[in-house]
Amino acid sequence: MPKSPVIEKTPLMKQFEEETGKLAIWKGEISKNFKKWKKKKQQEEVKKIKEDMLSQSRIEKKKMKKDVKEDKVGGKDYDHLIMVENLHKTYLLGTTAVAALRGVDLTIDNGDFIDIMGPSGSGKTTLLNLIGGLDTPTRGKIFLEGTNISMLNDNSLAEIRREKIGFVFQFYNLLPQMTAMENVMVPLHFSGKLSRRGKRKKAMDLLRLVGLDERAHHTPSELSGGEQQRVAIARAFANDPAICVLDEPTGDLDSKTGVMVLNLLRDLNKRGATFIAVSHDATVSEFASRVFHMRDGKLTHEGKISGLKETEIMQLKRRQETEINKEKCKNKIFQYLYSNQGKVEIPISDIKSSIPNSIIMNLPEHFNDILQELIEENNIFGRIEGDLLILN
Ligand SMILES: Nc1ncnc2c1ncn2[C@@H]1O[C@H](COP(=O)(O)OP(=O)(O)OP(=O)(O)O)[C@@H](O)[C@H]1O
Ligand SMILES: [Mg+2]
Repeated sequence: MPKSPVIEKTPLMKQFEEETGKLAIWKGEISKNFKKWKKKKQQEEVKKIKEDMLSQSRIEKKKMKKDVKEDKVGGKDYDHLIMVENLHKTYLLGTTAVAALRGVDLTIDNGDFIDIMGPSGSGKTTLLNLIGGLDTPTRGKIFLEGTNISMLNDNSLAEIRREKIGFVFQFYNLLPQMTAMENVMVPLHFSGKLSRRGKRKKAMDLLRLVGLDERAHHTPSELSGGEQQRVAIARAFANDPAICVLDEPTGDLDSKTGVMVLNLLRDLNKRGATFIAVSHDATVSEFASRVFHMRDGKLTHEGKISGLKETEIMQLKRRQETEINKEKCKNKIFQYLYSNQGKVEIPISDIKSSIPNSIIMNLPEHFNDILQELIEENNIFGRIEGDLLILN
């Protein structure tokens, strides 16, 4: 890697010198005392974050349990199909607490087709996973048909998922060895409500609904991407869900096939189905009835954008912003590598934790890809292996 003639004193080095009265740089090298002190500081920081999160989650859980008792409405006595209140989700990642959701409020009514757009890492999937009962929040409430589902145990959540939620993912997630019809029948087996014949009939009806009854006996590898996604949509509707959640439903499709899938969703929506989709793809918002934007774990505004022109401008603006963040990220990686010269193996999570959350959360690409690009651009002799950057 390129050598820096002078090591620049970082704020951490200044703090070390103030606290210990020792020099952080000695004869042009980073002193061993500083390295030891820094490691200890990092360990203390991780311990503190873990303790904070643990005590916060204990307090929150207690409070939420109390709230759940008070919030049991149930039955048909509710204003919205789904009501999300002040939703927070924090992940602990190495030495960093990642605030993926930071106070989201949202209501969803029967017949809505909601699209949430936002840059990579803004918290879209996290929000969908919470609404779909795949995960639980750190704080806040989610009411589904009037019942607070944010504190349910795993078994109750699994039941909610089976009975009330349909899922569609970017990469279809069909079982490769089964036919289209067998894939659609999978959720029907789990609910155990229909006879074998009943299940076959229902699966066939659903495949007809998505225009694939003639492909019922084909396996996923014999179907195109768009057809596989239509099978996934049929499967999502197997148990007549209250809502269908879609994570990047057109993310793996070319634009023409994507529009075909979106037309199908619009048809189903017109017949009463309720959707919440998250996407990078501005076309999805053209088909939705309500469009939100997500940024840094918050929903920024609601609006139905009229016309593709405006969305293209917004897309361009977002792309420019994320590109700026990528440059900032590369600069920070460089700073980190300079202050860790001599190290052969560096955990990538350590590099990542030296970069502000505001940058990490708004990157256009995966962090490792950006690191790889930086290695190549600067002729650094190094490679990425798992969570390690190995320099030689
Ligand atoms: N299981 C996890 N553990 C730790 N951090 C996570 C986890 N899942 C998500 N995150 C972090 O939470 C933030 C939000 O992630 P999320 O996947 O919700 O974003 P997204 O908007 O769906 O992004 P994309 O458009 O790339 O799919 C990111 O900073 C991400 O790195
Ligand atoms: Mg996502």
